[in-house]
Amino acid sequence: MKKVMGISGGLAACVVLAIWIGGAWAESKKVYTNLAPKEMVIKRGYTETEASCIQCHAKETHGIVEAWKVGKMGHSSVSCYDCHSVDKNSPMASQCEGLKGTDIYTSPMVSAKTCSRCHPSEHDEFSKSGHAMLSSKAVMDNKKFDKLMYHYEGAMELGLEYGSPANRASRATGCQMCHGTEVELGPDKKPIKETWPGGVGTRYPDGGVGNCTVCHTRHEFSIEEARKPEACASCHLGPDHPHIEIYLESKHGQKFSTQGEDWKWDSAPDAWEPGDYTAPTCATCHMSGIGDLSTTHNVNERLKWDLVHKRSEIRSGARGDGEKGDKLMRQVCANCHGSTHIKVQRDNLDNAVALYNTYWDRAVEMKSELKGKDLLKDDPWKDPFQELMYYLWHHAGRRARHGSAMNGPDYSHWHGFFQVFQIVKDMEDLYEHRVKTGKIETLSPVMSTGPI
Ligand code: HEC
Ligand code: HEC
Ligand code: HEC
Ligand code: HEC
Ligand code: HEC
Ligand code: HEC
Ligand code: HEC
Ligand code: HEC
Repeated sequence: MKKVMGISGGLAACVVLAIWIGGAWAESKKVYTNLAPKEMVIKRGYTETEASCIQCHAKETHGIVEAWKVGKMGHSSVSCYDCHSVDKNSPMASQCEGLKGTDIYTSPMVSAKTCSRCHPSEHDEFSKSGHAMLSSKAVMDNKKFDKLMYHYEGAMELGLEYGSPANRASRATGCQMCHGTEVELGPDKKPIKETWPGGVGTRYPDGGVGNCTVCHTRHEFSIEEARKPEACASCHLGPDHPHIEIYLESKHGQKFSTQGEDWKWDSAPDAWEPGDYTAPTCATCHMSGIGDLSTTHNVNERLKWDLVHKRSEIRSGARGDGEKGDKLMRQVCANCHGSTHIKVQRDNLDNAVALYNTYWDRAVEMKSELKGKDLLKDDPWKDPFQELMYYLWHHAGRRARHGSAMNGPDYSHWHGFFQVFQIVKDMEDLYEHRVKTGKIETLSPVMSTGPI
C-alpha cells in the first residue's frame, strides 16, 4: 500500500537526474559513478543555485556527492539545496565557505521536520514512536540520569566542573549518540560539539524532533539498508539490550546469515514480502509492510509488553496500545507460521514476563524493608544491594525478557534467567545480613562492571 507523497515546488517534474559529461547525457548510474568529480557539470533539472552546490561540493566534499547520487533522492533531483538551505532568519542559518557574500543561507543540521515536507506520513508515524521525543527525554529530562551522567560518569566526584567539556564527554560520546539530545548553538549559529551530531531523538533548533539518518544513512537514504538488521545494530546491542546478538542466534538470524545475500532487498516501499526473503529481519517484524499490514515508522505499534523498564506491564499511553500491538505482531508471524506455533511463542513470552516480574517483586519487597529499617546507603552506586538491583532489571532481566521475546535461547537462559536468580540470591544474602546485624556492610562485593 503506497502512500501519497506530498512533493513540493516543481520537484515532481524533474524526476530524472541529468548530468552533462563532455557532451553526452549519462542516464545510467554505471556511467556517472565512474566520473572524476571535477568533470561533473549539471545542466538540467536544477536551478543555477542548486547546480552550484553540487558542482562545488563534488570537488570539496567528494564523498557526500558520490553517496547522494547513487540514492533514490539523488535520482529524483532532491538536491543539497532542498535539505540544507534555510531562511536567513532561521535560528540555525549560517553560510558555508562557498556561499559567503551571497544571500543564500544553509545549515549542516537537517531535522526530521525538513523530511516531513515530502514524507508527511513517515514523519507522523515516527513522531508517535519511542524513537522521537521519548528517546531524547531519556537523556535530557531526568534528574536521576543527570546525576549518573554528570556527577558519576562525568567525574564531578573527582573535581571536574559541572558543564565543562570533559564533564559532558561521556554523555556526548555515549548516551546522546543513540538517544539524541537538544542541539545547542554557538555564536556562529552552528551546533556546539557537546550536542551534535546525535541519535534518533535529536531535538533541533527549528523545532524538528528526530534524526531520520540513523537507519537510512546519509546521503544515500536507502530503504535496502534500513531493512537489514545492521541498520538497528548500531544502537540495539550490548549488555543491556542485546537485540542484534539475540537476532543473530535466533533461527531467523541463522537464515539471514546463511542466505541473506541472495534475498531481494530493493522491492518498492511496502511491497517487500516473503519470497523476497524467507525469514524476517528487525524491520520485517517491527516496521515493514507484510501481508495485510502496512509499513509503519512507529516501532511501538506492534509491541504488547514494555520489556525495557523495571517491571514489565502491558503497554499503554505514550508507549503504545499493548493489546492492539499483540494482535499486530501475531499477524506478522502468521505470514510464515501456523497458529499452534504462534500461540506457543506468544504464551511463552507472557510466562517469561511473569517469571521475571516475580523476581523483581521480591527485590522490591526486600528493598522497601531495608529502607524502612534505614539500611540502605544514600549513594546507590556504593551500596551493593542497590547495585545488584540495577543489574537485575537493567542487564540480566532485560536480556531474559528480550531473549524470550525474540527467540534467543542463550540470552533468555545463560545471560538471562540464570543470572537473574543468582543476583536475587546475592541480594537475599545482603538483605538477611543487614536485617540480622542491623548494619550495612562496608565493602561492596559487587565488581564495578557487574555481572555481565
Ligand atoms: C534528503 C535530504 C538531504 C539532501 C538531499 C542532502 N543532505 Fe546533506 N545532510 C542531510 C542530513 C539529514 C544530514 C545530517 C544532519 C544532522 O545530523 O543534523 C546531512 C548532513 C550533511 C553535512 C554535515 C555532515 C558532514 O558529514 O559534514 C554536509 C556537509 C552535507 N550534508 C552536505 C550535503 C551536500 C553537499 C548535499 C548535496 C550533494 C547534501 N548534503 C544533500 C540531508 C540531506
Ligand atoms: C564554491 C564552492 C561551494 C558552493 C557553491 C557551495 N558550497 Fe557548501 N561548502 C563548501 C566548502 C568548501 C565547505 C566546507 C567548509 C565549510 O564548512 O564552510 C562547504 C560546507 C557546506 C556545508 C557544511 C557546513 C558545516 O558547517 O559543516 C553545507 C551544509 C553546505 N556546504 C551546503 C551547501 C549548499 C546547500 C550549497 C548550495 C546552496 C553549497 N553548499 C554551495 C563549498 C561550496
Ligand atoms: C523535496 C522533497 C523531499 C525531501 C525534503 C526529502 N525527500 Fe525523501 N524522497 C523524495 C523523493 C522524490 C523520493 C523518491 C521516491 C521514489 O523514487 O519512489 C524520496 C525517497 C526517499 C526514500 C526512499 C529511498 C529508497 O531507497 O527507496 C527515503 C528513505 C527518503 N526519501 C528519506 C528522506 C529523508 C530521511 C529526508 C530528510 C532528511 C527526506 N527524504 C527528504 C523527496 C524528498
Ligand atoms: C548504544 C546505544 C545506547 C547508549 C550509549 C545508551 N542507550 Fe539508552 N537505550 C538504547 C536503546 C536501544 C534502548 C531501548 C531498549 C529497548 O527498548 O529494549 C535504550 C533505553 C533506555 C531507557 C529506557 C527507555 C526510556 O526512555 O525510559 C533509558 C531511560 C535510557 N536508555 C537512558 C540512557 C542513558 C541515560 C544513557 C547514558 C548514560 C544511555 N541510555 C545510553 C540505546 C542506548
Ligand atoms: C528505525 C529505523 C528508521 C528510522 C529512524 C526511519 N526510517 Fe524510514 N524506513 C525504515 C525502513 C525499515 C523502511 C522500509 C520499510 C519497508 O520495508 O517497506 C523505511 C522506509 C522509508 C521510506 C520509503 C517509503 C515507506 O514509507 O516505506 C521513506 C520515504 C522513509 N523511510 C522516510 C523516513 C523519514 C522521513 C524518517 C524520519 C522521520 C525515517 N524514514 C526514519 C527505517 C527507518
Ligand atoms: C541511533 C540509534 C538507534 C537506531 C539505529 C535504532 N534505534 Fe530503536 N531505539 C533507540 C533508542 C535510544 C530507543 C529507546 C527510546 C526510549 O528512550 O524510549 C529505541 C527504542 C526502540 C524500540 C522500543 C520503543 C519503545 O518505546 O519502547 C523498538 C521496537 C526499536 N527501537 C526498534 C528499532 C528497529 C527495528 C531499528 C532498525 C530498523 C532501530 N530501532 C534502530 C535507538 C535506535
Ligand atoms: C520475529 C520477529 C522479530 C524480529 C526478527 C525482531 N524482533 Fe524485536 N521483538 C519481537 C517481539 C515479538 C517482541 C516483543 C513484543 C511484545 O511485547 O509483544 C520484540 C521486542 C523488541 C524490543 C523491545 C521493546 C521493549 O519493550 O523493550 C526491541 C527494542 C526490539 N524488539 C528490537 C529489535 C531489533 C533491533 C531487532 C533486530 C536486531 C529485532 N527486534 C528483531 C519480534 C521481533
Ligand atoms: C518471513 C517468514 C517468517 C516470519 C514473518 C516469522 N518467522 Fe519465525 N521462522 C521462520 C523460518 C523460516 C524459521 C526457521 C524454521 C526452521 O528452523 O526450520 C523460523 C523459526 C522460528 C522459531 C524457531 C523455532 C522453530 O520453529 O524452528 C521461532 C521461535 C519463531 N520462528 C518465532 C516467530 C515469531 C514469534 C514470529 C512473529 C513475531 C515469527 N517467527 C515470524 C520464518 C518466519
